[in-house]
Amino acid sequence: MPLVPLREVYAEANRDYFAIGQFNVSNMEFTQAVIKTAAELGSPVILGASKDAVKYAGAYNLVAMVKAEADRVNIPIALHLDHGPSFELVKECIEAGFTSVMIDGSHHPLEGNIKVTKEVADYAHKYDVTVEAELGRLGGIEDDIKVDAKDAFLTDPDEAERFVAESGCDALAVAVGTSHGAYKFKDEVKLDFDRIETIKKRLGIPLVLHGASGVPKEITEKLKKYGGQIADAKGVPDEAYRNAISRGINKINIDTDLRLAFTASVRKTLTEKPELFDPRKILGQARDDIIEVVRHKIQLLGSAGKVKGASNKRQKDAVPA
Ligand code: G3H
Ligand code: 13P
Ligand code: ZN
Repeated sequence: MPLVPLREVYAEANRDYFAIGQFNVSNMEFTQAVIKTAAELGSPVILGASKDAVKYAGAYNLVAMVKAEADRVNIPIALHLDHGPSFELVKECIEAGFTSVMIDGSHHPLEGNIKVTKEVADYAHKYDVTVEAELGRLGGIEDDIKVDAKDAFLTDPDEAERFVAESGCDALAVAVGTSHGAYKFKDEVKLDFDRIETIKKRLGIPLVLHGASGVPKEITEKLKKYGGQIADAKGVPDEAYRNAISRGINKINIDTDLRLAFTASVRKTLTEKPELFDPRKILGQARDDIIEVVRHKIQLLGSAGKVKGASNKRQKDAVPA
């Protein structure tokens, strides 16, 4: 089916307290792995592309690739600009065919963030494109941070209320202790779940959790076994997803876990089969390994089975055997 904006999917997730996965992609293997898995599980799904992904692949290539795969299945799929840095890039992506955008003005003071988000929301809504914004700064909650300092970077519920009312965004990314990449927590996993609940009660709109990769040990161990280097990486555990979703998170962003699965897979294949030089064999295995990660995540999010009959209606296998 054609790509969709997130409005209806968000409404259902918001009402029924489940989350939709945003999986970041910038090539064909990732795209196919995500769409094939979501279709098999009958789940709506979001493909995210950052500014660097757009720079790497080209907005028009990303749109063409995602649309080609989406046309073969009957689940709602959105192509979303992740951490859009400017109105100009938002405009370029909407013109290319993205159906959802994030404008990330979180580095601005509140007034500046409201201004740029409102500008994007006014524009995007004319094209039925959904808008996510961010308030607060992503970062770990360490023991030695004082309460005042913690409040300075985690999302403030009062500010959030004003921000959403004045900017007109459809969904809000909240800072509750996660951060991007593989190194999220030094020791204990600390997330401010109560803050999610408070913000949800005040705003009532879909909330987004960035920096949500789990950085699974079996994948980091595999990476290391085949020559990769990654020091004491720690991510968001499965039970934290459940808790965050039960408090009001409706979209969960995952990039690092797919990158780790891909790289560990390629390293293993190249190490074990040095005679191999067919990229399809190397990348095909990596695609299969990404599928395992996406499957596990979608099952965790509660979005599996939300699209009735989806898996039966796939026209052809998007990923050849
Ligand atoms: O939020 C950040 C995403 O993981 C995107 O990363 O800018 O390297 O594409 P990237
Ligand atoms: P991870 O780095 O935890 O995968 O987070 C991805 C993300 O938030 C993309 O916006
Ligand atoms: Zn992010």
